[in-house]
Amino acid sequence: MLDYKNPKLIVETSTLEPGKVAWRSPSNLAIVKYWGKHGVQLPRNPSISFTLQSAFTETLVEYAPKKSTDQGIELEFFFHQEPNEAFRAKILSYLEGLTEIFPFLRQLELRVHSGNSFPHSAGIASSASSMSALALCLCSIEDTLFDSLGDDAAFEQKASYLARLGSGSACRSIYGGLGLWGETALQEGSSDLYAVPFQEAHEIFKSYQDDILIVSRSEKPVSSRAGHALMEENPYAPARYQQANQRMQRLLGALRSGDLEVFGQIAENEALTLHALMMASNPSYMLMQPNTLEMIQRIRAYRADTGHPVYFSLDAGPNIHLLYPQDIIHEVRPWVDAELALLCEENAYLPDFVGEGPEEI
Ligand code: PMV
Repeated sequence: MLDYKNPKLIVETSTLEPGKVAWRSPSNLAIVKYWGKHGVQLPRNPSISFTLQSAFTETLVEYAPKKSTDQGIELEFFFHQEPNEAFRAKILSYLEGLTEIFPFLRQLELRVHSGNSFPHSAGIASSASSMSALALCLCSIEDTLFDSLGDDAAFEQKASYLARLGSGSACRSIYGGLGLWGETALQEGSSDLYAVPFQEAHEIFKSYQDDILIVSRSEKPVSSRAGHALMEENPYAPARYQQANQRMQRLLGALRSGDLEVFGQIAENEALTLHALMMASNPSYMLMQPNTLEMIQRIRAYRADTGHPVYFSLDAGPNIHLLYPQDIIHEVRPWVDAELALLCEENAYLPDFVGEGPEEI
């Protein structure tokens, strides 16, 4: 069993120079969804996602040797240049959980600056981009102080493992293209502990469009954490986990062969299954809104009328992710502007696409 606990990662504070590291890391959109977890952030089923490009978090971590000898973690946290106590408390508790992996965290003063490319109130989940950006920064600090992470693969695996501990879906954002998380016989090297890159996708999926149509900017009423927990008592859960494995098998086949229809059908079914599970939870809840359903109808009608392979997905929220190959962007965009944008809050949508993954900045 992989164990990153390492009591040797202790610095000599008297000679340590202050330093800083920074990463830009994107959000992701799962096609087969992770919904339901156990143990320490372990998934009940494997999932796979597109790593996005335009929706990202940038995080800068400045570190210096701590002046006091107390054992607490010293952290300042700024979000878009402003101190943010709620985020600081969250990050502090995350870092406290990592002190056996990174004992040096207790020896440093840390100042974290973070910001998103999308407005905080855009209704776009930022946990995948923010937790992956922070995990990458922590690995960069380790590598700077101890030169211990060797090659890129070791660095990425550890960053993915740490991102998972912050937010499950974040572990997939470490890789450009597609990231697969969860142990499955379908993919060699796959693990519940970290994601791996899925590099066998057909050319067409390497530049796929994923426009995020903002149905509502409001904060969601039920957190993902609470949603995962409700799966434990959901009577449909065992069938769901089995179904996710079957869909994964079909999806990997479609991704390899470039079968847009099978890909799109699975994407839509997975989105609706996720929301059906929420509605069938006890207590039941619903994150879709009237315009989510209106857009779904319009997307299906457009597909039937034009034959274009335009499909949708949903995250744990009301916003639509519009999925289509980039070679039809000039036909799809005018329709999005004329029809779907009008159903968005303040006509807002964020054009996005499958990206190259995180970047050190
Ligand atoms: O990573 P979490 O705990 O916020 O869970 C998010 C799960 C979904 O976004 C709904 C699906 C997924 O696989 O990303």
